[in-house]
Amino acid sequence: MSSIAFTNISTLVTNDSSIDDGALGIVRNATIVSDDGVIARITTGVPTGVDSVVDCSNKTLLPGFVDSHSHIIFAGDRSEEFSLRSQGQKYTSGGIASTVAATRAATDSDLASNAQRLLDEALASGTTTMEIKSGYGLTEKDELRSLQVAKNFTEETTLLAAHVIPEEFRDDPDGYVDLIINSIIPQSHAKWIDVFCDVGAFNPNQTEAILRAGISHGLLPRLHANQLSSGKAVEIAIAVDAASADHLSKSTDRDIELLASSNTVATLLPGAEFSTHLEAYLGRRFLDAGATVAIASDCNPGSSFTTSMPFCIAAAVSLLGFTVEEAVAAATIGGAKALRRSDIGSISVGKRADLVLLDAPSYIHLAYRPGVNLVHSTYKSGRAVTTWQK
Ligand code: NIG
Ligand code: FE
Repeated sequence: MSSIAFTNISTLVTNDSSIDDGALGIVRNATIVSDDGVIARITTGVPTGVDSVVDCSNKTLLPGFVDSHSHIIFAGDRSEEFSLRSQGQKYTSGGIASTVAATRAATDSDLASNAQRLLDEALASGTTTMEIKSGYGLTEKDELRSLQVAKNFTEETTLLAAHVIPEEFRDDPDGYVDLIINSIIPQSHAKWIDVFCDVGAFNPNQTEAILRAGISHGLLPRLHANQLSSGKAVEIAIAVDAASADHLSKSTDRDIELLASSNTVATLLPGAEFSTHLEAYLGRRFLDAGATVAIASDCNPGSSFTTSMPFCIAAAVSLLGFTVEEAVAAATIGGAKALRRSDIGSISVGKRADLVLLDAPSYIHLAYRPGVNLVHSTYKSGRAVTTWQK
């Protein structure tokens, strides 16, 4: 491995709140040195004895984006469904079935190449960590092979066999819950277990049984909560100490209070709000209550087909009531907390040198220039990368 210095950084976002009054810990005209993939020094000037130097004048350096929620193992296209929504049709979980059919028909190599293409897009827009869920296979074989594909790309793999009840179990939903608990979970070896707890998906009893079965096999819980309706999902998330409850669009004030006084991160998905049923100012309700908040792409072919965390930052600001600073923090350190990771999401000595360099003088441009890719380069463990690797 080697050392690399980033010098004359016009705006450095550290996320170290001890550095300045704001949450982003901004340093001007700084230098950082990465050694063997880890941040070794935050200093000024041009250090000697490093292998390479990147001049960051008029640029902004941030922690790489941590996308803590994605569904990128799938095949097929649902652009027609999106178009119907633009004509007033409501989003429901019903469209998932068409992606399940296409995913079951796809080869492992089709699934891997689609995921690689999406991860390359994400990398080009500054994402350095991506959580990846299964959930479009919904058979033992197809869920396990979806996870196998995901494992080649990330450590943050999530079993979402409990996405919806597949057609063949329509008259026997508990039979599918039994299959998940007794066959799929024990063979999954994923890091996380997730359940879509909502109307048209899994009820609270099924949700809790599946999460607890996952936990007993060493998987860690997180869940889809209150996306389409309000229910018991937040209470369950807190009862099982889920790392994160995600979506939360239909949350009640009580859900928000419960999350704010828990260890469970509230993960909001601005791309899904944009593409389905906007809950305006959703972010403000959580932020004002003092909840720990993350934003993530939710990249999937139905409700949010974007890999761009800068788009999510801009949407969080303009649609969900975040300040730019809150949105940038939620896309970096917030995502790290949602994955219970302390080695990523901030720039300080000892953290992984996962970085995004913007061709812009301030992080504000991420929201101020929506739809424009400002990423100059993305670094994983101190190396500039253009193709996603684990
Ligand atoms: O997170 N909520 C469930 N799953 C996805 C959407 C799935 C789909 O429509 O394909 C989501 O938004
Ligand atoms: Fe999702």
